[in-house]
Amino acid sequence: MENKKYTVMASGKMRQCAYDALKDKVNLLSWQQGGRMPQEQFDAWLAQADAIFSISNFKANEELLAKAPKLKVIAQSAVGYDNIDVAACHAHGVRVGNTPGVLVDDVADLSYALLIDSARRIVKAHAHVASGLWGQRKPFGVTTALAGKTLGIIGMGDIGSAIAKRAQVSKMKVVYHNRHQRADDAALNVTYVSQDELLATSDFVLVAVTLNPSTKGMLNAAAFAKMKPGACFINISRGGVVDTDALYAALKSGQLAYAALDVTDPEPLPGDHKLLTLDNITITPHIASYTSETRDAMAMLTVDNILAALQGQEMPAEVK
Ligand code: DGY
Repeated sequence: MENKKYTVMASGKMRQCAYDALKDKVNLLSWQQGGRMPQEQFDAWLAQADAIFSISNFKANEELLAKAPKLKVIAQSAVGYDNIDVAACHAHGVRVGNTPGVLVDDVADLSYALLIDSARRIVKAHAHVASGLWGQRKPFGVTTALAGKTLGIIGMGDIGSAIAKRAQVSKMKVVYHNRHQRADDAALNVTYVSQDELLATSDFVLVAVTLNPSTKGMLNAAAFAKMKPGACFINISRGGVVDTDALYAALKSGQLAYAALDVTDPEPLPGDHKLLTLDNITITPHIASYTSETRDAMAMLTVDNILAALQGQEMPAEVK
């Protein structure tokens, strides 16, 4: 690629490997000091940018596109892209990239950890020990076995099927619901059911769908009421697929025994949020893909997406 012909802006701090890979090839505008970039700085860079290395911390909509006359590609360093209006980008000739595949195992591991925690209360057990109560009084009620129980996965894509394989190691039966039945579900040893049947029969319900207008708020009061009393709920997709007030009510009433969430609505969740007043919840701060290996792989795939798009080539992972 012709040296420094293009300007690439990063919407926040880039992984060092990505910075090193781009810095000699393009005019790189990167907020390497971390923290939030001032809006004026963001807008000034946007006016010159041929590409955005996105860390998902802004909304790519008509308003943004109007301030980006040279923009050719937004490469998001994440698999999810609900902050990007893809149709608007395409209408402006802006291509969109993301990072599927490279994060599957790490996201599945954290999801499996949350599933186990919802049954075995590992985080609560640690808090019990840390508060000096070991041996002084009973901990936090009896926990639940995974073996022989049913896990219902809503959204059986690559991540969902990697979670299913882990749950099967714990001798769980796995059912799933998607818009369309998977052709390989017999090979995966998972059973396709309607969403209502999944909610009614699963001991653990795990959500792994993408956030879009049809999934927004889909886990609402009616959905929680359809779940088995005492079921556990795990969300590793996006907080927006859940009605937070309805989740709070279902946990408070005991309709749900426990929730383990890596994503919330809002994000970041304020420390005084009512969800955090509950005893029957574990929340991690959207860290499912957050290992150094996977974050480096996501960053490098983002670099490859940018370089391919700037040269008018096929992107390794393009959102079409
Ligand atoms: C993703 O890649 O979408 C993860 O949720 C991290 O943002």
